[in-house]
Amino acid sequence: MTYSRITGLGYYVPENVVTNQDLTQWMETSDEWIQERTGIRERRYFTYGKDTNASMAAAASRQALDRAGLSPGVVDVIVYATITPDYFFPGSAFLMQRELGMEGKPVIDIREQCSGFVYALSIADQFIKSGMYRTALVVGSEIQSTWIDKSTAGRNVAVIFGDGAGAAVLQATPSLDHRILSTHLHADGRYAEDLYVREPGSSRPNRAATKEMVDEGGFDVVMNGNAVFKHAVLRFSEVIEEALAANGLTPGDIDLLVPHQANIRISEYVRQQMGLSEQQVVNNIQRYGNTTAASIPIALAEAWEQGRIKEGDLLCLAAFGSGFTWASALIRW
Ligand code: UT7
Repeated sequence: MTYSRITGLGYYVPENVVTNQDLTQWMETSDEWIQERTGIRERRYFTYGKDTNASMAAAASRQALDRAGLSPGVVDVIVYATITPDYFFPGSAFLMQRELGMEGKPVIDIREQCSGFVYALSIADQFIKSGMYRTALVVGSEIQSTWIDKSTAGRNVAVIFGDGAGAAVLQATPSLDHRILSTHLHADGRYAEDLYVREPGSSRPNRAATKEMVDEGGFDVVMNGNAVFKHAVLRFSEVIEEALAANGLTPGDIDLLVPHQANIRISEYVRQQMGLSEQQVVNNIQRYGNTTAASIPIALAEAWEQGRIKEGDLLCLAAFGSGFTWASALIRW
């Protein structure tokens, strides 16, 4: 049997730090409200002319490849998660592939929002287990600062999101001891409009964006924050339990939980449900906000850099987001 193993992790966050206090120049909010409701202190915003979605992903990927001791040329496939691509089409995976000089290699763009990275990891894992590919680059990258409404009208959404990118290298291994044990994916389209951006949608009478579409807020993120929150706390716990049960394990076996960084209160609720200590849960939302598909690989890469992941550890990745989608992965490091 062939399995897949993560052999390199990398991330890139833009240098521009935007604090909660900085946000008060555009909207009525406060550092106190944001920290109390979300845990976020600051986030990063990309620099126009320097960063793009694909360039940030390329930087994260180069670091992940370096750490794996590999050159881009040996990668068989790129699986790239983002909801904020550089172009409407083709996807940013093409642009990153070009930047890394990997012409000819297949790329897969996926858009499963906050669960995007775990979906991407699962896809790469299946390719490797089937024997079709031996090395995969799995990426999550987002530039959210351009589309959030930074006026008071958009504050419930704007204060949460940030920009950044993370990447993981997956390689084939025969080892039963160090591998991705399983991945678990879910979606429920009944809640699509509880967190969505309508435009630029193609099911419209006109080709061009009209003033009405803009005035109606079609390009803004619409979020039913309370509904997202309530579903998130249930689904996170459920999908973690599902992964553990599939492997004959219990919450007590988890060494490190790396949740999607949606809200510190969500992570804290899940931590308590699972009976884990604070040291067993990775939280960096304080410094980066919610970076959607990039949040798990950034958190994972930082945890690895900080020496929080040891050989043989049981890692659990878990995500919930727009769609709704939710997903988990269990990894024996
Ligand atoms: O990855 C998935 C992505 N999304 C999520 O995970 C979001 C999940 N939901 C949440 O994290 C929370 O629902 C939010 C952080 C978005 C909002 O927190 P909340 O505790 O659910 O607040 P709320 O929306 O119920 O609003 C409470 C009050 C309202 O004022 P009134 O009506 O009570 O007077 C809001 O207008 O807080 C107000 N408010 C703000 N005040 C200051 C909303 N946003 C802000 C803000 N600053 N940024």
